Amino acid sequence: MCGIIGYIGHEPTAEIVDILLDGLQRLEYRGYDSAGIAIMTEQGLEIQREVGKLSNLVRKTANLDISSRAGLGHTRWATHGRPTEYNAHPHTDGQRQIVVVHNGIIENYLDLKQELKAEGHSFVSETDTEIIAHLIEYYYQGDLKAAVQQTLKRLEGAYSIVVMHAKEPNYLVAAKTSSPLLLGQGQGANFIASDIPAILRHTRDIIYLEDGEMAVVTPDKLEIFRIDGTPVERPIQHIDWNLVAAEKMGFDHFMLKEIHEQPTAFAQTLAGRLSENSQRIFLDELNLSDEKLQSIQRIVIVACGTAYYSGMVGRYLIEQLARVPVEVELASEFRYRDPILDEKTLVIAISQSGETADTLTAIKLAKQQGSPTLGIINVKGSAITRVTDGTLYIHAGPEIAVASTKAFMAMLAAVYLLALHLGQVRGHVDQSALSDHARELRRLPRLMEETLSKVEGRVQEVATRLLRYHHSLYLARGINFPIALEGALKLKEISYIHAEGYAAGELKHGPIALIDPLMPVIAVMTESAAYEKVFSNLQEVRAREGLVFAVATEGDERVNEVADEVIHVPAVPELFSPVINVLPLQLLAYYVALRRGYDVDQPRNLAKSVTVE
Ligand code: M6R
Repeated sequence: MCGIIGYIGHEPTAEIVDILLDGLQRLEYRGYDSAGIAIMTEQGLEIQREVGKLSNLVRKTANLDISSRAGLGHTRWATHGRPTEYNAHPHTDGQRQIVVVHNGIIENYLDLKQELKAEGHSFVSETDTEIIAHLIEYYYQGDLKAAVQQTLKRLEGAYSIVVMHAKEPNYLVAAKTSSPLLLGQGQGANFIASDIPAILRHTRDIIYLEDGEMAVVTPDKLEIFRIDGTPVERPIQHIDWNLVAAEKMGFDHFMLKEIHEQPTAFAQTLAGRLSENSQRIFLDELNLSDEKLQSIQRIVIVACGTAYYSGMVGRYLIEQLARVPVEVELASEFRYRDPILDEKTLVIAISQSGETADTLTAIKLAKQQGSPTLGIINVKGSAITRVTDGTLYIHAGPEIAVASTKAFMAMLAAVYLLALHLGQVRGHVDQSALSDHARELRRLPRLMEETLSKVEGRVQEVATRLLRYHHSLYLARGINFPIALEGALKLKEISYIHAEGYAAGELKHGPIALIDPLMPVIAVMTESAAYEKVFSNLQEVRAREGLVFAVATEGDERVNEVADEVIHVPAVPELFSPVINVLPLQLLAYYVALRRGYDVDQPRNLAKSVTVE
């Protein structure tokens, strides 16, 4: 939540505004309540801020003609203080000499504010961030690094910050605890950012800061220290993402582009992990020996949102293929319980960003309690990967739309691989079964492409019908139950239509009371062992004048008896059906939101990476 960029170069550049705004544009998925930049000039600090989307700030700064060596930028997801211009970052001290951008929450800011007020400081915003600028001012005695160090010792909570001082124009100071921050090494200039896409145009050589660390960044050097001043040596990591992957490539929205990238994302997750002859799964990166995997008695998956639903699919797969009991837990609940964990319980964190605060804390808790840990993660080098014993990267590439689609798909590919690997190692999947499953997995990307091209037009027709409703119920059973939940989440987060996902068997236990002509039901009822059961559930809906939209298998005409609208998808074995069935539901959410005129990629109130609790 909140995106930060910092730049410092050797020579003044007239591109400074563009560099900062371009970086912010690539971070806007982290928050888009307001945005601001601060640029070092010979006359002092030039600060521009604007409420709302970044495009407002872009308009405001269109005629700003500045050449400079250093600047900061910030895109905000409001925590403390409403999204107004005076609450927008960057914030300054009383003298407008020190400027700060911040991501996170300072929990003791009210105490600090009182203390500073007693010292004569006055404040112009409602934010916790402004306190940081004033505290640095309070400690400043001609050395910005020392003043930041003193300040950090007083802060409680989560933060990543970048600080600049008008009197010390040759360096920026960065620091982090809990919220993500990385340094980028460019040519003649260096960078600080919340996430890789912000600086990908300039460099792919990065260093992640760890909790409790700060950095002094000059145009030539990236120096890292612990807050107590102890130097830290850390090698530079080379990132192989390219900028094109973070562009829209002719699609109207990132979400639509990412929906269409799913066959590739799925194939990329499989790549190099299934042997050519389908006889073996290579998952060396688990860092867990076959003996260790054989000794595991239970698996706990922790995740949030869409990642959590991929974990639910994982439970079906692992229990069926590897016969290990699996629990799937919302990370935000798990971390506050007193979970029973031991060395025979494998704890798996699933996360696109690898930075989700609750998932990160949950996996740290598991590690402290002696459980082996594994991350199923997209972003290379992200916080969770630095905690877990092993990381199974999903290789989905940068996912920019707030509504997750291709990362979900790649997570599914990863849990298929993991379930098969566990099944093989534990003796429940023999060679011939592995070959069969591997063949199906390899077939899926092509089938996904076929599905997308076949259903998109039909989905648009169905969307036209769905968009006028205020509520909806998504139903499915078995391995597609998580797909109903995911479909409902997609619809609510971008179209703002209230959507609930239910296991169809639960209908009679309450939700059926909601059924009337104003509560459409979206049912996933492709060929499966539970087909007849779902069919009966839908008859019950129809008997109460409910409207039914169904996702069904090509060739299934009987579905017309219970559905008003049908989206047909290609046949696929039930075990692999979530991969196909989620596609029309993602497209449905997209087209409903589009027709309702909403901002698909940046839905209200949300942020892509939830780095605060
Ligand atoms: O980065 P993560 O996968 O840990 O994020 C988890 C959730 O915040 C995320 O999936 C969220 O629910 C998305 N907006 C769903 O589209």
